[in-house]
Amino acid sequence: MAETFICKKDELQDGERKIVAVGEDEVGVFFHQGRYFAYSNICLHQGGPACEGLIIAKTQELLNEDRTSKGLSFSKDQTNFVCPWHGYEYDISTGECDSDRRLKLRSYQVVEKASDIYVVS
Ligand code: FES
Repeated sequence: MAETFICKKDELQDGERKIVAVGEDEVGVFFHQGRYFAYSNICLHQGGPACEGLIIAKTQELLNEDRTSKGLSFSKDQTNFVCPWHGYEYDISTGECDSDRRLKLRSYQVVEKASDIYVVS
């Protein structure tokens, strides 16, 4: 197991990300709601930079009892990052594609040591 230095903790604020080289892969490291997440930056659709697009609350459609639409709203529980090429959305807390949970980006462990952050590969 190799550890790749990412940055000092105070260089990555909540809601931000860094894209870094980890071995042969490019990895997106996110700091979200006090936790670190790291995923391969290669989109499962056509290889775009999956981790480099918008970070946004999941958009969900609210339904009436008769299944007609009440309109769209933003989730309070799930945040996604969006591949900038064609819009595949990935759950920031799992790396799963929001529209097809069978698709999941390769994830990496993130460790904190003193004031530093590392990705384990
Ligand atoms: S390459 Fe990412 S959505 Fe198409």
